[in-house]
Amino acid sequence: MNADPTESLENEASLQLDANGRLRHLLTLDGLDKTLLTDILDDAQGYLTEPGVLPASSQSLAGRSVANLFFEASTRTRASFDLAGKRLGADVLNLDVNTSSRKKGESILDTIYTLEAMHVDIMVVRDASAGVPAYIARHVLPHVSILNAGESDVSHPTQGLLDVLTMRQHKGAFENLVVAIVGDISHSRVAMSAAHALTTLGIGELRLISPPVLAPDQSRVPGARLLHDLAEGLADADVVMALRIQRERIGNLDGIPGIDEYFANFGISRESMKLAKPDAIVMHPGPMNRGIEIESALADGPQSVITQQVTNGVAVRMAVLDRVGKTMAARL
Ligand code: CP
Repeated sequence: MNADPTESLENEASLQLDANGRLRHLLTLDGLDKTLLTDILDDAQGYLTEPGVLPASSQSLAGRSVANLFFEASTRTRASFDLAGKRLGADVLNLDVNTSSRKKGESILDTIYTLEAMHVDIMVVRDASAGVPAYIARHVLPHVSILNAGESDVSHPTQGLLDVLTMRQHKGAFENLVVAIVGDISHSRVAMSAAHALTTLGIGELRLISPPVLAPDQSRVPGARLLHDLAEGLADADVVMALRIQRERIGNLDGIPGIDEYFANFGISRESMKLAKPDAIVMHPGPMNRGIEIESALADGPQSVITQQVTNGVAVRMAVLDRVGKTMAARL
């Protein structure tokens, strides 16, 4: 469902940049160019003294306010935006949606206008409906930035950035990489944002592996190979990412494999990882369902970079917050 079906999403990509090409909103990675993506990754890397080490603090957002508006559940995205804003010196407001006036029927735009009246500068938005972040971005005051923190099955741009940063830290250039993403691709905003970023960054080969019932339309991921056989998908892969089945976005579970069948055919394990390259890394955006899409021992084993993804999430969100803050400062 779009937030407002009368409004086209066609210009979503151009909505993100100001007249001088600076990042104003981050709604999707689709349409952002390689230079901008690489600059954000470099900025994020700059906050990390070495892989896995928490970012340093800065005061670049001192005097700014950031509101986290999560109209859908989250642990790591919300916590890392909270930490990222604080590490940049911003005042950070975490709106408790369950006790907000949204529960009394207040519209999302009235919620946004209320926060604007309190001089919130950056709003971080997660919503279960497609189109909500862009809809809000079209209605906010010129100095306010909207950051998409997860939008239905459409887009999760900061997750895509932290995923490709993690790949780059371990594998360097993208040109010769084989990346295999396994699981519920059709309902995954993580897979979509990873595909957008990897395609722009010049990935060697992107494989999206799922049961046929959980495969996306090829038109959503034009640069990827869609596969339904795990062994074929993992063969000689450099990076393997598992995704959970996103039951909250699946209306009718008919035809979705049961847990045992799913793990047997699409769960990644120490055994199935023998098909990938010996130095392949294992990723998962979280939250994990151990024993369904990933063997627990693999998630905790030496190939796993899952906790590093989480650490990188703070650095990436610092980089994005800092960048839109600089865009605001340049307007003055
Ligand atoms: N990966 C991710 O978006 O996790 P959360 O739902 O916990 O934020």
